[in-house]
Amino acid sequence: RMLKRQIACRSDINRMNGAFLATFESLIPPEEERTKQKQLLALLDEIVSKEWPDARLYVYGSCANSFGFSKSDIDICLAIEDANIDKSEVLLKLADMLQSGNLQNVQALTRARVPIVKLMDPETGISCDICVNNVLAVVNTKLLRDYAQIDVRLRQLAFIVKHWAKSRGVNQTYQGTLSSYAYVLMCIHFLQQRRPAILPCLQGMEATYSVTVGNIECAYFDKVEKLYGFGSHNGESLARLVWAFFSYWAYYHDYANDVISVRSGSTVSKRAKDWTRRIGNDRHLICIEDPFEVSHDLGRVVDKFSIRVLREEFERAAEIIQYDPNPCVKLFEPY
Ligand code: GTP
Ligand code: MG
Repeated sequence: RMLKRQIACRSDINRMNGAFLATFESLIPPEEERTKQKQLLALLDEIVSKEWPDARLYVYGSCANSFGFSKSDIDICLAIEDANIDKSEVLLKLADMLQSGNLQNVQALTRARVPIVKLMDPETGISCDICVNNVLAVVNTKLLRDYAQIDVRLRQLAFIVKHWAKSRGVNQTYQGTLSSYAYVLMCIHFLQQRRPAILPCLQGMEATYSVTVGNIECAYFDKVEKLYGFGSHNGESLARLVWAFFSYWAYYHDYANDVISVRSGSTVSKRAKDWTRRIGNDRHLICIEDPFEVSHDLGRVVDKFSIRVLREEFERAAEIIQYDPNPCVKLFEPY
């Protein structure tokens, strides 16, 4: 392995902190949005309970994991206990009922990797996707939300990274770049690795929360109120963390050998996971282990073209933050 010399951070990095914090603040959804989401959820609940009285609706994804921007779409999971249901049938039936319930742009996508019904509520202007029995997504949403409560810098850093990824066009899985979920995992892993650590490894601690989904056991320490102040021995500013995050992905991450793993609070080797070669469409060019579905690489969508785009974007970001007098402008410049 080649040893790289650590690049020294610009000495005036903390002067940029105000600009990064202002960017973060500008992206936080206002309270009215939450009220509207609740209103829509109540309406959907009413429609759903007519056909499936025992079913429940869970919000997952960015509206529930605390990493959502203003005006995000809502991701909803319809949980039906009956194991014998046919998901496509449920979705088609649901689409019918939503249409009669005056919701707009109702569309059932039963052949997608995660089959969903899409809709738009004319009353609140909110769009949403509803899937069926995607319990793992509900559980990983809780894990992300729990991590966010331990140290505010996680939410701040992830907002900056997501905003950068959306501005630069590298948050599009259908084009071979990474999902928001993958970026948040990268931020959690990064903060677990700081010295002193800013985040603990919740799955490495005594489990206080545990559910089994299919054959996957999801267990971790979720009493996060006991962990407030965990990262206080590390005084790094948001600006410094943003700089270090992009330097890590631009210059230090070992793409050839390492898998980042929030589950273990560390990196694990590609060889140990047998992620060293292309299998089917999975190329494993950047490896991000799902915290619960550990055979699932969130980097599987990245191909030999998009890995170059991604790495060039990480380098571009690192250079801007290192040298630009006013990095917040160029960093988020539309691609
Ligand atoms: P934005 O909509 O971009 O603001 O972000 P988001 O937080 O909604 O993330 P995204 O659209 O990437 O994913 C929504 C949710 O789906 C995530 O929070 C996860 O719970 C779940 N999810 C997304 N991708 C995967 C995946 O590959 N595997 C699993 N298990 N869950 C996923
Ligand atoms: Mg989403």
